[in-house]
Amino acid sequence: MSPSASPCVLCRTLLWSLLALLALFAFGAAIRFLPDRPVTYDDPVEHFKYGSTGGERNMGFPYWVFQVLPEVCPDLLPGKGYASLGFIFEPDRDLPVGMSKRRHLGIDRVFLNCAVCHTATVRTAPDAKPMLVSGMPANQLNLMAFQKFVQACVNDRRFTPSQVVPRIAEKAGGLGLLDTHVIYPVGIHLMRDGVAGLTGRLRFIHLQADWGPGRVDTFNSAKAIFGVPFEKLSPEELIGVADFPAIWNQAKKQDMQLHWDGNNSRVEERNLSAAFGTGATPKLIDHAAIARIEAWIATAEPPAFDRHFPVDRALADRGARIYMQRCAACHGTSGSDFSGAEVGKLTPIAAIGTDRGRLDSYTLELAQNQGMLYSADPERRFRHFRKTYGYANAPLDGLWLRAPYLHNGSVPTLWDLLQPASQRPKTFYRGNDLYDPKHLGFVANQPQSQGTPLFAFDTRIPGNGNAGHEGAAYGTTLPDADKWALLEYLKTF
Ligand code: HEC
Ligand code: HEC
Repeated sequence: MSPSASPCVLCRTLLWSLLALLALFAFGAAIRFLPDRPVTYDDPVEHFKYGSTGGERNMGFPYWVFQVLPEVCPDLLPGKGYASLGFIFEPDRDLPVGMSKRRHLGIDRVFLNCAVCHTATVRTAPDAKPMLVSGMPANQLNLMAFQKFVQACVNDRRFTPSQVVPRIAEKAGGLGLLDTHVIYPVGIHLMRDGVAGLTGRLRFIHLQADWGPGRVDTFNSAKAIFGVPFEKLSPEELIGVADFPAIWNQAKKQDMQLHWDGNNSRVEERNLSAAFGTGATPKLIDHAAIARIEAWIATAEPPAFDRHFPVDRALADRGARIYMQRCAACHGTSGSDFSGAEVGKLTPIAAIGTDRGRLDSYTLELAQNQGMLYSADPERRFRHFRKTYGYANAPLDGLWLRAPYLHNGSVPTLWDLLQPASQRPKTFYRGNDLYDPKHLGFVANQPQSQGTPLFAFDTRIPGNGNAGHEGAAYGTTLPDADKWALLEYLKTF
């Protein structure tokens, strides 16, 4: 080796070491940042409750930031933790039902999935264990309060890396240097930007009265995708708050005009449009995951009332005869046989007479805009959204768990729905999971449940009207004895 070559050997060695180091770093970074891995479950119900539909990549909160928010801003919550907003926690679970996790851009991210709006608990007695029912409306979840909590906390002066990161380190049992100084501080800023963008698009919620638990404004949320100028909308178009529906037996509901106003007749399209609600935009949507959920809700069935409460068979048989005469044509023969000349069709608004808000909030323009989504992908393009002028005659499967009733959840029990509107409660409490097997509905006359205050629902607020579905065809003129018989039959649905 000549003396003149030695510096070059040194520099070559150095260069190689540097390259090796860079490669190692890139490799490390790739391992850390490239994986895009949802948490998946083999069991379809577990997948429904905790699996991903793809939305976390877009809207996902950093897992640990989500976990510490209630500690950062405890005063902005009505009670302790996310449970006080109506989220349900199963034993030994770190995330509530309806929240999924995905490893993306180097951190675990979480966001809502279908189950958050379509799963709830029921207590059959005050001291009974809450029973979790997948596919029923999420009666306790106050989604508007959740949106407002996240927005307020993320914009709070306490939401800074110096206050949030140490809490994360404590909860996570320690954080690495990269996490402490780069990942989470950046994550916190990104979350602030993300939430600002989201709340800007969903700003219509600040123009509306509190929805209360179990409800969301479906199609004003959909309008947000198209950047609709909410401030310019007419009051009729601006309030479209709807009750969460049950989603069992979808296969039998194919070709029915469903959604409360019957604006779409295809199961796949209703599922796909629902996925937007979970942050899964056309590009990010996880079609395989949606397909698994679709397969499950195609045949999922509600739990039977008579496994928990008695049914008087003779009385129910008498009620069945009344039901066949008056109700079956619109709602199907039973809770599992949906045949009937008018089932899955629409009753014009003038005839049904229920609150117009949800109907008017869905416009021709929105239907046309929805038809443009996915336009590059002819197989997945929405083709079946239509502007309608009434509400859907829907099957009544799992009816006992679908209280409060009507599309806006304005009538607390089935017994109340069988009364003329003038005799239905003007105000009542929503969000209880304690069941009232006599009137069929959740206990609605108590201001709190197990020490937690409930939401006072006022039917006089625009969008909350409890009129309609009245008159001889709808059973409100029957003698009381017949109403009790009808109610007994409806327990078998
Ligand atoms: C933010 C709450 C929310 C989430 C999340 C959500 N849904 Fe829904 N879903 C609703 C509401 C509200 C309606 C009723 C829409 C209307 O007519 O206004 C609905 C309607 C439906 C319907 C039609 C029911 C019928 O019979 O008319 C199906 C099916 C459905 N959702 C499935 C899903 C699936 C699958 C997912 C996940 C990909 C999902 N939903 C996510 C709130 C939600
Ligand atoms: C002409 C068709 C028609 C007839 C007849 C009819 N209904 Fe309905 N029903 C509807 C429509 C439409 C709705 C949705 C109204 C709304 O939500 O604004 C509805 C809603 C309901 C609901 C609320 C469902 C839910 O998930 O909130 C129940 C319960 C119900 N009907 C029971 C009955 C019973 C019992 C009878 C017979 C006594 C009956 N209906 C007769 C059309 C009909």
